[in-house]
Amino acid sequence: MTATISNAETHYHDFVIQATPVTRLCKTHSTITVNGMYPGPTLEVNNGDTLVINVVNRAQYNATIHWHGVRQIRTGWADGPEFVTQCPIRPGGSYTYRFTIQGQEGTLWWHAHSSWLRATVYGALIIRPKEGDSYPFPKPKRETPLLLGEWWDANPIDVVRQATRTGAAPNISDAYTINGQPGDLYNCSSKDTIIVPIDSGETNLLRIVNSGLNQQLFFTVANHKLTVVGADASYVKPFTTTVLMLGPGQTTDVLITADQPPARYYIAARAYASAQGAPFDNTTTTAILNYKSAPCPAKSTSVKPVIPILPAFNDTATATAFSKSFRSQRKALVPTEIDENLFFTVGLGLNNCPSGSSPANCQGPNGTRFTASMNNVSFVLPSSFSLLEAHQQLIPGVFTTDFPAAPPVKFDYTGNVSRALQQPVPGTKVYKLKFGARVQLVLQGTSIFTAENHPIHLHGYDFYIIAEGFGNFDPNRDTAKFNLVDPPLRNTASLPVGGWSVIRFVADNPGVWLLHCHLDVHITWGLAMAFLVENGVGELETLESPPADLPLC
Ligand code: C2O
Repeated sequence: MTATISNAETHYHDFVIQATPVTRLCKTHSTITVNGMYPGPTLEVNNGDTLVINVVNRAQYNATIHWHGVRQIRTGWADGPEFVTQCPIRPGGSYTYRFTIQGQEGTLWWHAHSSWLRATVYGALIIRPKEGDSYPFPKPKRETPLLLGEWWDANPIDVVRQATRTGAAPNISDAYTINGQPGDLYNCSSKDTIIVPIDSGETNLLRIVNSGLNQQLFFTVANHKLTVVGADASYVKPFTTTVLMLGPGQTTDVLITADQPPARYYIAARAYASAQGAPFDNTTTTAILNYKSAPCPAKSTSVKPVIPILPAFNDTATATAFSKSFRSQRKALVPTEIDENLFFTVGLGLNNCPSGSSPANCQGPNGTRFTASMNNVSFVLPSSFSLLEAHQQLIPGVFTTDFPAAPPVKFDYTGNVSRALQQPVPGTKVYKLKFGARVQLVLQGTSIFTAENHPIHLHGYDFYIIAEGFGNFDPNRDTAKFNLVDPPLRNTASLPVGGWSVIRFVADNPGVWLLHCHLDVHITWGLAMAFLVENGVGELETLESPPADLPLC
């Protein structure tokens, strides 16, 4: 149902979270889905439209839905991370998310934000220009969302529960997927391989999302160039490449032209695995780009689609060259004066086995338990109130506001880190920002246990990535590299392995906003913190009141 208010529309949807039989890799699982679909329904809106989504939880797990990348201006109650902006929707419960898309165009997505439910509870959110506006590129003939996912031949909730019990790293996935299908290179998967149609000569838009849980992915199409035109629902200066790299949470919009001999070409994705020696799923998912004038595959089944070349799993040079190609399409409104100069370390940790614990609970490296932190604080979610409720209703004892602006101890972050610096302190700490504060945040990776690329996502905001590099950030040397002219605007930064990224944003959206690594394995270990952005002056700078049906703990 669609109602019209002036030009903008309001879209009403029902999302029923439910267990559904899903068969992949020759086996059927009772999979948690939305409306029985895996991936879930695609939402299509125009910039300026409002979404009203009634979520009913018929699953046996707590659930919430996050609208990844939506700014949620003044509507933090609809953001979704459990225990941050709401308590979970309990089995049998429901909650209606209401929010308006303001000034964003391109591809976003939605996903569950509770335990590891997002392994199967996710879908695309397509935002087209307002009626009468157009794309900043020739209108594509077709548009195809391609959601890259990760599949476990197990219940993903059992996988994370086992890891939490043992303290070891969780099992890696058994397949990657494109729109829910592993593709031709996996058992029992060929007949359902996703086909992407194209006509000779036409130019189409692919909206690519990394919906995977724990793995950065390279993406390519055999023999075809890809022209990147947008990412994270912001347009970029077009550039051409043959391979993309997306961290979980990131989206990339590309134009593809059918300028090759009519045939079938594989679309493929596989891991970019930056952590040395860490196990990862080394399989390859495929779909097929099918020229409509290509010889019919039924008559010539021996003709295999053209196979692409993907970068080596550890090809950091390719990942870096790609992320350094991004420029904002328009002159960027980067703050040049800074009110808050923040420096956060980002990385893993190893806790000694707690006294009295059995070795079965300490199966991390050398009898430890894995953990992770920002600035040595390993984030712990509250359980009796959400952070946003506690903030808005002044409920004491739920969080403290002493998240540090810099690491408590300075050390060689990307060098050999002493064992004494590897055990963070658990805590529910937020960092307070005044409304309108101009923030610079240096994200500094550490080499604790292992250095690796981290997709760092901020809720409620887009931020400019003004520089990135390897090693330790050095203000005297690296400030000269800041791009304050046309840096890309993103909601998820790909923090280089053993390196740093510098981001800037203006804190103009009141509420409590999670900043976290979008690898679910790392958020499980505590690689997160939250910003508390105070109200400004007047209604337009103030968080709305909570909806009447907001779930309570
Ligand atoms: Cu896409 Cu906090 O998440």
